[in-house]
Amino acid sequence: SRLAIAPEASAATGSAASAKTEPLFVLYGTQTGNAERVAMDAAVTAQAMGFTAEVAGLDDIGMERLATMRRLIVVTSTYGEGEMPDNAQLFWDALSASTAPRLEGLRFAVLALGDTGYDGFCQAGKLIDMRLEQLGASRILARRDCDIDYEDPANAWIAEALPLTVPDDGAGGKPAALPRAAASPARQTTGWSRKNPYAARLAVNRRLSGSTSAKEIRHYEFDLGDSGLQYEAGDALGVMPVNDPALVRLLLTRLDADPDTSVGDTSLGALLTTGLEISTPPRDLIAEVERRAGNEELTHLLRNGDKEALDAFLWGKDICDLVALAPPSSFSADDILPLLKPLQHRAYSISSSPHAASGHVHLTVASVRYHADGRDRCGVCSTFLADRVAQNGAAGIFVSQNKNFRLPADNDTPVIMVGPGTGIAPFRAFLQERQARGARGRNWLFFGDQHHDSDFIYQDELAEMSRDGLLSRLDLAFSRDQQEKIYVQTRMRENGKALFDWLQQGAFFYVCGDASRMARDVDAALSDIVASHGNLTQEKASDYIAGLKREKRYLRDVY
Ligand code: 2AM
Repeated sequence: SRLAIAPEASAATGSAASAKTEPLFVLYGTQTGNAERVAMDAAVTAQAMGFTAEVAGLDDIGMERLATMRRLIVVTSTYGEGEMPDNAQLFWDALSASTAPRLEGLRFAVLALGDTGYDGFCQAGKLIDMRLEQLGASRILARRDCDIDYEDPANAWIAEALPLTVPDDGAGGKPAALPRAAASPARQTTGWSRKNPYAARLAVNRRLSGSTSAKEIRHYEFDLGDSGLQYEAGDALGVMPVNDPALVRLLLTRLDADPDTSVGDTSLGALLTTGLEISTPPRDLIAEVERRAGNEELTHLLRNGDKEALDAFLWGKDICDLVALAPPSSFSADDILPLLKPLQHRAYSISSSPHAASGHVHLTVASVRYHADGRDRCGVCSTFLADRVAQNGAAGIFVSQNKNFRLPADNDTPVIMVGPGTGIAPFRAFLQERQARGARGRNWLFFGDQHHDSDFIYQDELAEMSRDGLLSRLDLAFSRDQQEKIYVQTRMRENGKALFDWLQQGAFFYVCGDASRMARDVDAALSDIVASHGNLTQEKASDYIAGLKREKRYLRDVY
């Protein structure tokens, strides 16, 4: 869906008119909606400057169209470890192909969003930036790679880039200076955001998985009170965690530091508790430990570039472990603080529809707990929710819209949902939402986990939905209840004919959950099903699936 933002009729005046009315395209590649929001904001700002701006997802733009463009800003995130986001893959396939058009007439700049915690930081942006240049386009501003705290750098970069999209020559004259108010256009939200979360009371915290389960999956309900906070089925909830006080104490001990030491206008203890990430060691810290530690194994791993071996070495190690690799007193608090990253929110797919959970928002979260090197370890936010919110009274929350993960607008359209484990979360929301809408379209859910007896979460609710006819089909895959592994994709293949029929009847296909294994294997199963039941070659099957993506009928919320 493309939003064209019309220029203000009076804005394009004077000698710059022709250059300014040549439309500026702001194309985004997005997984969770952040890049899309940045692109929308950029277009609004451009409009305030008198530009004609058009915003679109990268996959909505074919190469013929791209070849006609003169001014382009690309805002793209990167998905997983250096991959294109879901709505940019088709664009990238075409752009990177030998058949891509020459782009000599194009002025462009790329803004990349990423997370330095992952390999392939901002890789999607880097690739597109490089390829556009290779194809002859002129870069008007150096690419900016933003880490998770992207808002300020992104706004600054956009403010710098927009005026440069107008050629110096020809029409002449730079556009008017940016009106200050337009630099950060107000969005239609209730005002709760990452920077200003709502302190919500946790009304329900209940274990879903059985006591014999290998996992601890919990159901949470936050009371929205009078916040006015709104969400839709498919959205995610950002939760601001507070670090485990036991881990803070341990780190202070390792640093031989006093929690009451002042740091700016706060204390060291408070900063480590609510201000900084103290679990996953950031790259800068790893490098610094290596420099000071004289740890041969680490030195070797960092030098020889064997990523898998390095990951295996780092697995389960937190900042305390890393510091302990160096000789005692190698690090003081002052040494460490600049190497740590600000404490980030965690985003969880919301598991309720606002129409079913009035005044509340539900989450379905697996608590991360394990034992390593003689110490109990716990996931930052999942155990904050499970164990510590009550002591804190409330948790800071905000809604992170996921406009690309929505039910079909047409209530008669069938939907197929694949969500094993906590991947069921958005589908519980979808099912509640379809019920609230009185949607008559059929709903098919694939769910699974290790064991039927301990891991069949929301079993009663799903049984009721099946009885009511809301859930037309429920296929279950419990991987460890028998000798051979049965996974959701096993069930998909077994029901391949019906699944293909549903797709032929216009069904939307959704996947939520583990990205690296499950979603990848589900994608492969989908290809095989389309090929065999559609009687297509692998190549034609790929085209069919590309078509589903283009029509926004193959949607994923994977992590
Ligand atoms: P397993 O651990 O028994 O192999 C949720 O974690 C469920 O996803 C578990 O039942 C797990 O099975 C299963 N799972 C593991 N790898 C998978 C894959 N590649 N595709 C689908 N499901 C998988």
